[in-house]
Amino acid sequence: MMGKAAKWIWILSLSLRLSFIQLTTIHKNPGYISIDCGSPKAYLYEETGIWYENDTNFVQTGTNSRIDPRFFVGYHYFGGLLKTLRSFPVGNRNCYTLKPKQGKNNKYLIRAYFMYGNYDGKNESQAFDLYLGVNYWVTITFEPGDSYVFQDIIHTPTTNTIHVCLVRGPKGVPFISGLELRPLSNSIYQTPWPSSQSLLILQGRVDVAASTFSYSNRQSRYKDDIYDRLWYNEFNDIQDWHPFNRSVDITSDESTYELPQQVMRSASKSANVSSSLEFDFNSIWGGIEDSAVYYVYFHFAETEKLPDGHKRIMNISLYNNQSVLSVPVTLEYLKAVTISPQYSTQSFVQFRISAASGSAAPPFLNAFEVYQLISPLPPQTDIRDAILEIKSRYNISNLDWQGDPCLPKDYAWDKVSCNSDMNDNARITSLNLSASKLTGQIITSFSQLTELVTFNLTGNNFTGSIPKALEEKSNVTLQLSLDDNPGLCQTSSCESKAHKSNVPLIASIVALVVFVVIIVCVSVKLWRLRSKKQRVMLAASNKDKQGIAKNQTFSNSEILGITNNLKTVIGRGGFGNVYLGTLQDGAQVAVKILSETSRQGFKEFQSEAKLLKFVHHKNLVSLIGYCDEVDMKALVYEYMAKGSLQHQLSDKNPTVLKWNERLQIALDAAYGFDYLHNGCKPPIVHRDLKPSNILLNGNMQAKISDFGLSRAFANDSDTHLLTTPAGTYGYLDPQLHISKKSDIYSFGIILLELITGKPAVTEACGKVNHILQWVVPLIEKGDIPNIMDPRFEGNFNTTSAQKAIEVAMSCISKDVVLRPDISHTVAELKECLNLEIMIHGSSSSVFESDITEILPR
Ligand SMILES: *[C@@H]1O[C@H](CO)[C@@H](O)[C@H](O)[C@H]1NC(C)=O
Ligand SMILES: *[C@@H]1O[C@H](CO)[C@@H](O)[C@H](O)[C@H]1NC(C)=O
Ligand SMILES: *[C@@H]1O[C@H](CO)[C@@H](O)[C@H](O)[C@H]1NC(C)=O
Ligand SMILES: *[C@@H]1O[C@H](CO)[C@@H](O)[C@H](O)[C@H]1NC(C)=O
Ligand SMILES: *[C@@H]1O[C@H](CO)[C@@H](O)[C@H](O)[C@H]1NC(C)=O
Ligand SMILES: *[C@@H]1O[C@H](CO)[C@@H](O)[C@H](O)[C@H]1NC(C)=O
Ligand SMILES: *[C@@H]1O[C@H](CO)[C@@H](O)[C@H](O)[C@H]1NC(C)=O
Ligand SMILES: *[C@@H]1O[C@H](CO)[C@@H](O)[C@H](O)[C@H]1NC(C)=O
Ligand SMILES: *[C@@H]1O[C@H](CO)[C@@H](O)[C@H](O)[C@H]1NC(C)=O
Ligand SMILES: *[C@@H]1O[C@H](CO)[C@@H](O)[C@H](O)[C@H]1NC(C)=O
Ligand SMILES: *[C@@H]1O[C@H](CO)[C@@H](O)[C@H](O)[C@H]1NC(C)=O
Repeated sequence: MMGKAAKWIWILSLSLRLSFIQLTTIHKNPGYISIDCGSPKAYLYEETGIWYENDTNFVQTGTNSRIDPRFFVGYHYFGGLLKTLRSFPVGNRNCYTLKPKQGKNNKYLIRAYFMYGNYDGKNESQAFDLYLGVNYWVTITFEPGDSYVFQDIIHTPTTNTIHVCLVRGPKGVPFISGLELRPLSNSIYQTPWPSSQSLLILQGRVDVAASTFSYSNRQSRYKDDIYDRLWYNEFNDIQDWHPFNRSVDITSDESTYELPQQVMRSASKSANVSSSLEFDFNSIWGGIEDSAVYYVYFHFAETEKLPDGHKRIMNISLYNNQSVLSVPVTLEYLKAVTISPQYSTQSFVQFRISAASGSAAPPFLNAFEVYQLISPLPPQTDIRDAILEIKSRYNISNLDWQGDPCLPKDYAWDKVSCNSDMNDNARITSLNLSASKLTGQIITSFSQLTELVTFNLTGNNFTGSIPKALEEKSNVTLQLSLDDNPGLCQTSSCESKAHKSNVPLIASIVALVVFVVIIVCVSVKLWRLRSKKQRVMLAASNKDKQGIAKNQTFSNSEILGITNNLKTVIGRGGFGNVYLGTLQDGAQVAVKILSETSRQGFKEFQSEAKLLKFVHHKNLVSLIGYCDEVDMKALVYEYMAKGSLQHQLSDKNPTVLKWNERLQIALDAAYGFDYLHNGCKPPIVHRDLKPSNILLNGNMQAKISDFGLSRAFANDSDTHLLTTPAGTYGYLDPQLHISKKSDIYSFGIILLELITGKPAVTEACGKVNHILQWVVPLIEKGDIPNIMDPRFEGNFNTTSAQKAIEVAMSCISKDVVLRPDISHTVAELKECLNLEIMIHGSSSSVFESDITEILPR
């Protein structure tokens, strides 16, 4: 079995190793899910900087245990992870449900740990199966006294939830000690098959030659490895492999596999150009299966400086077959490259790396990974997200409602029947929830079960009315039974039943709500149409769309006329004062005039003018015109009546922005940003985002301003760095990484200011304090009431607040790759705002049910 093979590799020697790990700063690894199963509490494991949660929020079944202390694993890379576990004595299949923030259609590394440690005092052998959703992953086996096992899998789910399931096997009781999920870049670990249709199950991940050298006598994982891969380093004494190391830094990684430096510094080479490196997995570790398919990734980086004009050129072949590449691989000094072959192999993992003709040096290898490849995948029930919502909404605690509802067939859920068409995605065709003590309203998720034929809700205690979508279906294809639900409105007659005395009041509230909803929907639709149109290329002509009023040129005297001889100063920009002005048609404008003393300012002035001439979006402050004369340089903008966000948030401002208003401002700014980052080609990085650069018009619509430091990037890549960071202390990415992701950092800080009402940087007694210093400990405690601006006086929805905090934390993630793209942030903020409006902004219980009453049928 594969379990055995993997175990041979991964049962590491338990000898104590020296710790070289520094204390890491505290943050919750945004994007990561790290679960210490059976642990009584959440904790930070300082050696790795990984924050572990207990499993309370991920699984409903099972019991917690501790292993026998005699089996404690002293290996510091796992900390206490293996000391506790959760076992599942009841039920055939028990599942953990993971909801990664990045959602479906993204690639994840998922790792499960197992350590029996005689937790049950029975000293028995164990054998049970591990599934990822409906896919068999591996069989876990233990003999008494065995050390730990872990299993890695790479997966791109097509649903927002991932189930890791333990299925009862021939011996013992299924259990699990730890579970980790790490987001990967979607561009790596590709195979010749579609990602959504394949699984990669790790067989070996090898840091070649590492343990020969004292600097790498520890395994690499997070934080050396941003994807938290665990690199196995005990791989030395293969015949004719000659280890060597170089203290160089790999400076370029076009492949974005981002292997840790210390993994790439060591390598093995063959004796000379005419001999090759050869490897046979089975003869070294065993466990290769005849029926299984394998796939290998080869990682190279040239660490030897060869004489000019000399290159190392290599030919890789999988034994018994031809070369895996049509062209041999040629290495460039200090450049990492990963080779993913065109072929997989079945029943063997053997490879040979030889020097191709013209190579100046013997073949070598820095690291490699071997996976079992499962492709294509069996179908899964296509409505998992809907049925899970139903399950959680009604608190359905049936033991077997875990994992996929229909598959594998032997584990299909109770009360559910599915179609038997295995070629298509499995579908729920019948749902019998009669006499299940269900209460509350019938939610619309039921109507997402598109293939439902019979649906029995008899004998529950539902209230409210039947969702329109469901009723429509029950008129056509669905057999819906609703008898014995005394509180349910099944006919129009129930209108008169409801709270007679309040009918006029409720009706008018409802009418108002409906009206607002309609208006919002219509304007959102209109806006969508418009914003779609606005996503135009930077270089495209905007003139026709923007009308003639834009990009006018003004003369020196016109500027003086507009501003009434520079009468009213309304602000100070990066390169001079901003004056209030009035155009001939009476429209108010803001006029930014370059001060004569500002040399630096001229460059910024130019870049802002250049940019705004071409870039237009409703959430970017718009340029009406400019003056470019020898004695007068000025930019004329739309007037933003409510000033800057900084002003709005300040203690001195008597009106307090409500939580929903702040979310709207954040969302507006995010839209503006999304346009800069993703709507413009090439993308534009603002580089100086802060509350004083977010302006509000009379309708409190937020717009981004001050583009003096912004840069258009020649390519879309995030790795394109500018050498000179710019910006403002407090908002500046500590990683000094100037890219889209540094804007995201600044945005995260602004979000925290909106949440807390406190400025990014405060000074007290000559000491400068950053917002993160006090807010992060509170966030770690989950102390939402004290995080939120006290000026809200508790008027905010906690879920919405929590989500916003999570968004902010992900934006400031130390690991740049884990910071979301702004488009993702837009979606998250929309959700926050919806939560706030739905739950806090109106009396929610009336909201959903009664709209169906009023809408025309
Ligand atoms: C998980 O941790 C939380 C707090 O950290 C605690 O309240 C809860 O009881 C723990 N759950 C279990 C199963 O120990
Ligand atoms: C567990 O069983 C094995 C044999 O199966 C035995 O050698 C070992 O001493 C036992 N350990 C304990 C703690 O009972
Ligand atoms: C290789 O590793 C050894 C042991 O740590 C070290 O002394 C030596 O300097 C390294 N060699 C190079 C070329 O970096
Ligand atoms: C290359 O190395 C192999 C194996 O060590 C050896 O048998 C062979 O003689 C060497 N060839 C040359 C040209 O040095
Ligand atoms: C060798 O590669 C070819 C693809 O060109 C593939 O069809 C064949 O199955 C492979 N043979 C083995 C033994 O893996
Ligand atoms: C690469 O290796 C394959 C198989 O060993 C061989 O057929 C091919 O000629 C080699 N190509 C080069 C350029 O050496
Ligand atoms: C759901 O069930 C759990 C435990 O059975 C209970 O504590 C909780 O209050 C229930 N929630 C609802 C909304 O009924
Ligand atoms: C539906 O569920 C109820 C209660 O669990 C049960 O009594 C009944 O037999 C079920 N009906 C069908 C058709 O399975
Ligand atoms: C629904 O379930 C109830 C109770 O289990 C049963 O009496 C009734 O016949 C069922 N309705 C249908 C249409 O199956
Ligand atoms: C249904 O709910 C109402 C209140 O919501 C309660 O008074 C009643 O006892 C419930 N009936 C059943 C059968 O649970
Ligand atoms: C369903 O059918 C009933 C009666 O046939 C009709 O009154 C009702 O309007 C229909 N509902 C929908 C949503 O089509």
